[in-house]
This record gives sequence, structure tokens and C-alpha cells, in this order.
Amino acid sequence: AALRTHRIACIPGDGIGPEVIGATLKVLETLERSLKTFKLDFTQLPWGSDYYRSQGRYMPTDGIQLLKQHDAILFGAVGDKDVPDHISLWELLLAIRGQMQLYVNVRPVRTLPGIQPLIATPVKPIDWVIIRENSEGEYAGQGGRTHVGQPWECATEVAIYTRHGVGRIMRFAFETALSRPQKSLIVVTKSNAMRNGMVLWDEIATEISKDYPSVTMEKMLVDAMTVRMVKNPHTIDTIVGTNLQMDILSDLAAALAGSIGIASSSNIDPSRQSPSFFEPVHGSAFDITGKGVANPLGAIWSATEMLRWLKEDDAADRLMSAIEKVCEGNILTRDLGGHAGTLDVADAISKELSQSI
Ligand code: NAI
Ligand code: MG
Repeated sequence: AALRTHRIACIPGDGIGPEVIGATLKVLETLERSLKTFKLDFTQLPWGSDYYRSQGRYMPTDGIQLLKQHDAILFGAVGDKDVPDHISLWELLLAIRGQMQLYVNVRPVRTLPGIQPLIATPVKPIDWVIIRENSEGEYAGQGGRTHVGQPWECATEVAIYTRHGVGRIMRFAFETALSRPQKSLIVVTKSNAMRNGMVLWDEIATEISKDYPSVTMEKMLVDAMTVRMVKNPHTIDTIVGTNLQMDILSDLAAALAGSIGIASSSNIDPSRQSPSFFEPVHGSAFDITGKGVANPLGAIWSATEMLRWLKEDDAADRLMSAIEKVCEGNILTRDLGGHAGTLDVADAISKELSQSI
């Protein structure tokens, strides 16, 4: 039978991006070769800070059109010591997320077997899904600077919340909660101090909850939520919140579950008009770049989410259980207290895959 073929745009990017994506490609190749049910047709795109230094931009002018010819995008990291972070982030990552309306950011958080969570006495392993609004809020890019360089210089950073934007992320969050055994959703805001946009969030959450009577909804303020994540992690299942607030909570969540190095992130267009975009949560990690010690699990876990989005569930399940086996077998990178290198982990996962298929 003909193989199902998926066209993947691959952007390794900066810092440890190429290292973790290199490891991911190895693992995916083994999976493809062992299963023989699908094929990933990669387009390698050298976009990032080196490209910027030679071309004066982070991606070509027709970059978005090029990406749109693919079924999904696999991304490493962007950010460079010699380029201000707001330039690298806006020109590549936020440009893609925004122009393609990838308005959902899904961040699963789980303590994998063999990995020590940061929680002192866990009641049960962490298993959360964080749903982050990915198109507006605090990262809408609205604002400006006046009296530049004067002692009275003034800057504004205006957060934008639309009924459309909040409604669509809220529906996605309720659907996600509904698909999980616990069927509970925590809507995180700061609607005591922020009395406009955050109150709109609360109102829309209450309206939409009426369409999901089997989902238990709770509202929490973001500051109290940090405490609950640390003290009562077993009471949490699905979480939804704004762009900035979930950016912060998801880093905390990753650290609680074991390491930022294992956290994955899916930037999704649920309408499937644009290709969705899969990346580890971490950034370029200058301090460990080039040392071969970066944890590739965040990128590899992101690849399993990509396979799931492409409806290759069997491949995704097999890859995830290979990841779990390797963690259980204690083949861990330094951030998880182990001694394995990036490629040791990839090789162990590949071996596990070829033996189990
Ligand atoms: P970072 O995630 O790059 O690093 C934070 C800390 O976590 C470092 O100590 C690093 O060594 C460690 N770490 C990160 N990933 C790891 C991995 N896979 N294995 C082991 N340890 C890992 O965040 P930071 O330092 O705030 O930012 C560095 C650069 O990356 C900046 O230019 C920033 O703008 C960019 N960045 C890009 C992101 C993206 O492309 N999505 C996300 C976050 C930051
Ligand atoms: Mg972040």
C-alpha cells in the first residue's frame, strides 16, 4: 500500500535547537523505518540568527507562504546572544504564530516514570494540560514609546482581549477538559486587579461553561494558582489562561514535573487552514550550546504531539512509550540528574523503537 506522506517544514533555529532537532529527526527516522505506514517529507529551513546576520531578516519575505505548503512545522529554538531577544522572537516565532493564527498553545505536563518531580511528597504523578491563548492578550504587540531617551520616557504595553479570541480559546479548553478522565477545567485570570479584560474572560468562561455541563469549571487567580501547583498538584487537570500568564505557569509546571528540558508545546490552528507548529518549551540555552548535553525530550515529545495532530496515533503512542521506557531505564541528561548526552538519549529511544516494533 502507498505510504501516507506528511510534508514537514523543519526549522532547527539557534543555540541547542539544531542539537535537539537533530536527535528528534534520528528518532523519527527509526519510527518511519520500523513502522512502514507513513513517511515524513522534510523541508529543512535554515532560518534563525545566522540567517539574520547574512540576510538581514529571520525568514524570507515569502516565508509564511512557504510554510503554508506543509502539513506541520517542527521547530527548535530561536534567540542569540548578539541579537536583542524581542527582535529574534518577534521576527520568527511570534511572526509565525500570529500570521498563521495558531491561536491555541497546548502544553502537556506529566511526570514521566523514572523522573524525580520537584514536589516533596507527590500524591500522584503530575498530569496536566495547560492551554495558553496564543494570539492576543499581553503579547498583542500594541503600545509604543514616547519621549525616547528623556528622563520622562514613557512606554505602554497594551493587552488586547477580544470576545472572539477569548471565546475560541475557551471552547478549545472545555473540549480538552471533556476529553480527559477528570473533566475539570481551571480558568486562570487576575480579574481582581485587572478589571476589564480579565473580567471579560470570567464572563465568557461562565457563558461557555453552560454548553459543557459535564465539565467542572473553577476560577482561580494566577498568584494563588502558583501556590496550588506547588502544594496541591493532584487537584489540577486542565488549565486555561492568557498568553503571558500561561507562559509563566507552564515554565513553573515544567520545572515541577522534572525539567524545562522535557516540556513540549503545540501551536495549533484547530481549523487546520494553516499548518500547526510543534516545539520544545525551552529556548536556545546558550550555557549548554555545543556541549552535546541538551535534553532532547522536549523536542521529541513535541514530535509525538505532531504525529498525533497528523492522525498518526499509533506512531505517537509508540514513540511516547519508548520515551517513557528510556526514562525508566535511567538514561537521562544532566538536567534530570543523569549523565547521558543528547544523542545517547536519541539512540536509546531508537533502540527501544526498533526492538518493540
Ligand atoms: P532557556 O530555555 O534557553 O534556558 C533556561 C535554562 O534552562 C538554562 O539554564 C538552560 O541551560 C536550561 N535548559 C533549557 N533547555 C534545556 C534542555 N533542553 N536541556 C537541558 N537544559 C535546558 O531560556 P533563557 O535562558 O531565558 O533564554 C535563552 C534564549 O532563548 C533567549 O534568547 C530567549 O529569548 C530564547 N528563548 C526562545 C524560546 C523559543 O524559541 N521558543 C523560548 C524561551 C527563550
Ligand atoms: Mg516561555
